[in-house]
Amino acid sequence: MTNINKVGVIGAGQMGTGIAHVCALAGLDVVLNDVSEDRIKAGLATINGNMSRQVRRNRITEEQRQGALARIVPAKSYDGFTDCDLVIEAATEKEDVKRKIFVQLCPHLKPDAMVGSNTSSISITRLAAATDRPERFIGIHFMNPVPLMELVELIRGIATDDGTYESTKAFCQRLGKMVAVSEDFPAFIVNRVLMPMINEAIYTLYEGVGTVEAIDVAMRLGANHPMGPLQLADFIGLDICLSVMQVLHEGLADSKYRPCPLLVKYVEAGWLGRKTQRGFYDYRGEKPVPTR
Ligand SMILES: NC(=O)c1ccc[n+]([C@@H]2O[C@H](COP(=O)([O-])OP(=O)(O)OC[C@H]3O[C@@H](n4cnc5c(N)ncnc54)[C@H](O)[C@@H]3O)[C@@H](O)[C@H]2O)c1
Repeated sequence: MTNINKVGVIGAGQMGTGIAHVCALAGLDVVLNDVSEDRIKAGLATINGNMSRQVRRNRITEEQRQGALARIVPAKSYDGFTDCDLVIEAATEKEDVKRKIFVQLCPHLKPDAMVGSNTSSISITRLAAATDRPERFIGIHFMNPVPLMELVELIRGIATDDGTYESTKAFCQRLGKMVAVSEDFPAFIVNRVLMPMINEAIYTLYEGVGTVEAIDVAMRLGANHPMGPLQLADFIGLDICLSVMQVLHEGLADSKYRPCPLLVKYVEAGWLGRKTQRGFYDYRGEKPVPTR
């Protein structure tokens, strides 16, 4: 088993910032990378904002916030990753983007460094094949928002060795997370079950069975879900929802996973949910307003 003390995070979006946040609070050194300095700066500001909220709610102390922020170092290039024990890729959910990252990243890593991907759906075995170390590659799938959600799915690729699995499991436990192990099949466990439900909610809207509000109220109060499925889709990001459905549809070749045309239309419009301020709800005003 390898002790993980320094973690590299690639992608400073919703998930990458969350992963850097929990690692730094757990006392690990973190290196944070994205495509531009501005993106990294925005990511650091998000982490600062989220930690400040935790201080206000007495979840952490001001001292812990300062200590954690000081442990996160921005890195414009992969040169900053040479002494990382584990690098977690949390970039855009596109296979070609991720493959390119791994090809460029690996020559900078120490030989025994482990590499993880936070992908929601893409084959870990296939991503591992883009690296020089498939045996030290693993899926580490955090849930959104990372600081609040207790689960991490660990996905072993065909070549992942026991040491990598045990070391990443211990790492997740150090972050205070529970681990569920999934086999490497499209979308793993959580999204295999969750995304078809969200896609079906969008079909329900598309076919006029209910309005945005009716569908969300129905599932919140009728199925006791904490968020309605359309609210949740906006929270996750509609581009992510679409790409997970595409991976399920292509990977399992079953028409039941066909992405709803309305989901495709929203993504084509650039209405990706909360992150673009518009999705099934419009977030630009004081209160979210349904867009249909
Ligand atoms: N959003 C969710 O609920 C959720 C949950 C679990 C897993 N995931 C997965 O996490 C990953 C990231 O999702 P997100 O929601 O944070 O997306 P996001 O759009 O918020 O962030 C992605 C970030 O990756 C950066 N990026 C793109 N190409 C890059 C490159 N070559 N090098 C470095 N950075 C690059 C982008 O600039 C952006 O900042 C995806 O694989 C997604 O499937 C998302």
